[in-house]
Amino acid sequence: MKKTVYIARPIPSKVREYLDEHCHCIEWQGEGRITRDDMFELLSAADGLLTSGTRINAELLDQAPKLKIVSNISVGYNNFDLDEMRTRGVIGTNTPGVLDDTVADLIIGLMLSAARRMPELDQLVRKGLWKKGMDEEMFGVDVHHATLGIIGMGRIGEAVAQRARFGFNMDVLYSNRSHNVEAEQKFGARYCSMDELLAQSDYILVMTPLSKETEKMIGRAQFAKMKATAIFINASRGQIVDEAALIEALQTGTIQAAGLDVFEVEPVDADNPLLKLPNVVLMPHIGSATHATRSDMAMLAAKNMVAGLSGQVPQNVVKELRG
Ligand code: DGY
Repeated sequence: MKKTVYIARPIPSKVREYLDEHCHCIEWQGEGRITRDDMFELLSAADGLLTSGTRINAELLDQAPKLKIVSNISVGYNNFDLDEMRTRGVIGTNTPGVLDDTVADLIIGLMLSAARRMPELDQLVRKGLWKKGMDEEMFGVDVHHATLGIIGMGRIGEAVAQRARFGFNMDVLYSNRSHNVEAEQKFGARYCSMDELLAQSDYILVMTPLSKETEKMIGRAQFAKMKATAIFINASRGQIVDEAALIEALQTGTIQAAGLDVFEVEPVDADNPLLKLPNVVLMPHIGSATHATRSDMAMLAAKNMVAGLSGQVPQNVVKELRG
């Protein structure tokens, strides 16, 4: 008999067809966003859950007694309560690799947009405020030949380092739990302490996974160590940064600007002070959001699901849950 999979996120039709071949799929049919209670009802029959961002904690697992696998359509898996999943023998998978270049492209876009003040100047043109020729008030700063500091040199960090080194002639510094020899050899990235990275970099990118150790790792003390001209980029998870400290740093000129794809609370509250600051570029967590990449991520997540339900070890079991 086919195993039951609850599909909690929209997926392309070809991914749905693939899942239908192997599993019995159920989806939320109601209006609007599903409530947690309605989701619990659907989960009571589910062997697998295909999702992203759904908190997989004791409360949810109590309602899903048959659940064998949660397959995330994302590389991040900070939604997993790893201890609870381990205790109950629930497999957790993610989708590394297929999104690296797409996220790296967006990060370069954030660096360029913040450096050259693109959203701000776009508004100036649209509002009919472009009265003279080029004015010093419209000047930005260079990306090329500047120094980029990457906090967290994983696969996406490497894809950014490659673009920075070969596309923009940048010097790349990085801090990481361990040396990334490949990034050093291929992109000339130099391993350094966090303090040195903060003090020396013109662009500082946070690309580390969210965990208890990295939560709020960038706060007031770290912003104080950055150059006053630094441009801060976060495309990882909002909770890695103390957002109040970032807002203060942007308001007081402790740093020059920021480019953000992620926030402490998503979607962002309408009264979040970031929305009023001219020196920050804001994106709605769309790092991986191209048609091709989202489709590849959904297919990889579906393959992880089918492997897990058929008793094989899926390709992308997250490292903390590997047997
Ligand atoms: C991820 O895959 O973790 C990205 O943040 C997109 O959700």
